[in-house]
Amino acid sequence: MVKMRKCLLTLSAVMMLTAVWAQEVVPQACEQSIVKPKSQGRYLWLPIQESAPEGKVQVIVSGILRMEQNVRMAREKTDYYVALDLQPYQGNGTLRICVQNVPAGSVCFKNLKQNDDADFALIEEKYRPLYHHTPKRGWMNDPNGMFYKDGVWHLFYQYNPYGSMWGNMHWGHSSSADLLHWKDEGVALAPDVWGTIFSGSCVTDKENIVAMYTTSRPTPFGGDVQAQCIAFSKDGGKTFAKYEGNPVLTAEDKDFRDPRPFWNEDIKAWNLILAVGQEMRIYSSADLKEWKYESSFGQEYGNHGGVWECPDLFKIEDKWVLICNINPGGPFGGSATQYFVGSFDGHRFTCESMPKVTKWMDYGKDHYATVSFYNAPENRHVVLAWMSNWQYANQVPTQQFRSANSIPRDLGLFRYGEETYLSVVPSKEMLAARGAKMKQPTEACEVVVDVKGSADITLSNAKGEQVTMRYDARQQTFRMDRTQSGNVSFSEAFPCVTEAPTYGTVRQLRIFIDRCSIEAFDAEGKMAMTNLVFPSEPYNNIKVKGGKATIYEIER
Ligand code: FRU
Repeated sequence: MVKMRKCLLTLSAVMMLTAVWAQEVVPQACEQSIVKPKSQGRYLWLPIQESAPEGKVQVIVSGILRMEQNVRMAREKTDYYVALDLQPYQGNGTLRICVQNVPAGSVCFKNLKQNDDADFALIEEKYRPLYHHTPKRGWMNDPNGMFYKDGVWHLFYQYNPYGSMWGNMHWGHSSSADLLHWKDEGVALAPDVWGTIFSGSCVTDKENIVAMYTTSRPTPFGGDVQAQCIAFSKDGGKTFAKYEGNPVLTAEDKDFRDPRPFWNEDIKAWNLILAVGQEMRIYSSADLKEWKYESSFGQEYGNHGGVWECPDLFKIEDKWVLICNINPGGPFGGSATQYFVGSFDGHRFTCESMPKVTKWMDYGKDHYATVSFYNAPENRHVVLAWMSNWQYANQVPTQQFRSANSIPRDLGLFRYGEETYLSVVPSKEMLAARGAKMKQPTEACEVVVDVKGSADITLSNAKGEQVTMRYDARQQTFRMDRTQSGNVSFSEAFPCVTEAPTYGTVRQLRIFIDRCSIEAFDAEGKMAMTNLVFPSEPYNNIKVKGGKATIYEIER
């Protein structure tokens, strides 16, 4: 039975959790169809039809329900396959897969496959980036729990292994020695009795990695209950054991999520920043388990066009920077990353700007859920953003996987007028990735443009699709127009022109192209702009007016 160690949950949440636990010991009858997997073959391949409504796939071992996911099982046609990994259940009793809410006679029952081939029916996708991190299959949103330890960068991410649309949230895990080549490390955290696994962060000490994340469960009365939980890893982040005293922090607020704990040497204690509705709450703790509320930040500060999510709080030089991802409310609609600069004493964050001042980290439309790696070397502040926008993230024209993360960027500070801003530059690992010089752009390259005064840059292909960019030296703005970039029809919110202030003169632009994304930076870090594009063939032509372009292949 669940030990109700924390009595802080609302009554509805308690009732709901008791009901779920009861399901685990009293197996449900399978309404529709029972699949009996062969004893050999690690993966059961589930045929997916993206337009189909969700059915339920349940794993039952000797009559006990072990797990359950919402899956768009194919009814009329199979778009692609996802893997149900049977290994954890094989050899432990009679294994049955129960498929519910899917009509008998649906093609999924005929098309099921079972084998040991992890690459089975893997589609070569036109828009899979070549040097950006992507999940092999399935849906990805926010980067989670990123940390650096013993020469390895660890990246966890919001992950649905059972389809390429949002749902069934897990933490996927990838690792890298150079922030460019990522190794798939599989699933790190899977849903449990407390709910699906939403965003969160990791902290490290000498032996342990501790993950802190949000669990989210629907209540029988509508809406979700969100709570904060922790899990420990003793093998460098490969596997996690969930804390038996979970959840460690609960509340009645509707949007209560995305914990970011960190060690604060100034007060010799842990701090936690958490997004709640349209504010950030700050807590402190001696052990990451018992949390004391300290203060809230946000009322009347910055942009409030949507829910505040995925916070971060860290010191750069002598200032503290509070990152606040917001959706909707971004400068061009939908999702974006704002930040505040100020001071923090372990108890309260004080913004140094006037409340109405809003600062954006990136002025593109596809830059969200940006947070930093914990424990990065050389005092660096390395961030990754999810390259999408909730306005159309579920509709972008990929198939078996959806979404990529941005290239790594290093943050710093710069001053302009009366204000201090975050500088954003491609991490030095991107310089190391520069390969041979080329005459024309390719599907995966970096274009460096040395500018003198204003400049116009056009990327185009033989189909007449194009992306135009303009740096206006007089107005001190940089603009990108993707209205004619290729496939823009999957969402009305997709075609757009984005514009950024450059806070002074730009001397060099660095533009990273990777099949379906364009990331443009002022080389000195005063401007960043990230936009997705879906050309029917790569832009292999460039025209530059007012500058000189050098094109580098990206080595991968
Ligand atoms: C941000 C977000 C988070 C939440 C997660 C769920 O994109 O909404 O606030 O934890 O996605 O996948």
